[in-house]
Amino acid sequence: MRTKIVAGNWKMNTTLEQGLSLVKELIAKENEIPACVQMVVVPPFTHLYSVYQLLKDYRIALGAQNCAAQAKGAYTGEVAAEMLASVWCQYVIIGHSERREYYGEDSPILCQKITQALHSGLIPVFCVGERLEEREAGNHFEVIAQQVKETVLLLNPVDFSKMVIAYEPVWAIGTGKTASSAQAQEVHAFIRQTLAEVFGALAAQTTILYGGSCKPSNAAELFAQDDIDGGLIGGASLQAEDFLAIAKAF
Ligand code: 13P
Repeated sequence: MRTKIVAGNWKMNTTLEQGLSLVKELIAKENEIPACVQMVVVPPFTHLYSVYQLLKDYRIALGAQNCAAQAKGAYTGEVAAEMLASVWCQYVIIGHSERREYYGEDSPILCQKITQALHSGLIPVFCVGERLEEREAGNHFEVIAQQVKETVLLLNPVDFSKMVIAYEPVWAIGTGKTASSAQAQEVHAFIRQTLAEVFGALAAQTTILYGGSCKPSNAAELFAQDDIDGGLIGGASLQAEDFLAIAKAF
């Protein structure tokens, strides 16, 4: 059985006060989250410790949106994986398309970040996905295979077994345009097969999340697909009601 995860990537949204009230709404209804689902909230760095204080007696986990490629030192403005672990983060998103696109994060940097995360005991949620022009040119499988080959496929099997993968087609992020459940399933199965070519049966255990305009109205259909093990949710995770509804879609 693969772990089912519904993770809320808040991106650069909410003040501390707004973030804490969102978490309070989630914990008030924690009993509605299906037992088979691990809910994860992924607030901005500034909120992590305070959010942890609210979450610590509940079964909602904490994640961060990024970590540094280095362990520590003179890297002004960066946050190390070890620091995230010290405020009780269990997950860290690595390689989100917004980091790749706006901050020039490429595969070699992402490999360093994965190494740092694993070294600190964090579970990397590693994102892959094609741009609109790549999908339209029919190159999406090649693009995704390349993103996986340059990173995840270089890991040893023990490290690989700790990874969570997220497929986030760039054209579906924040656009209201969701991949159809068939399109998403097709890519998820392809990712799993690519992983299996190197890691064999371990690939059947890998949690692969879908992200990109996932919302209460489409979550059930997406999550019903064989190779979709949950969601990485942006906009809809900022409304407790919607985020809970997505978790309940399993
Ligand atoms: P949206 O759900 O807002 O499309 O964002 C998806 C995403 O990027 C999650 O990491």
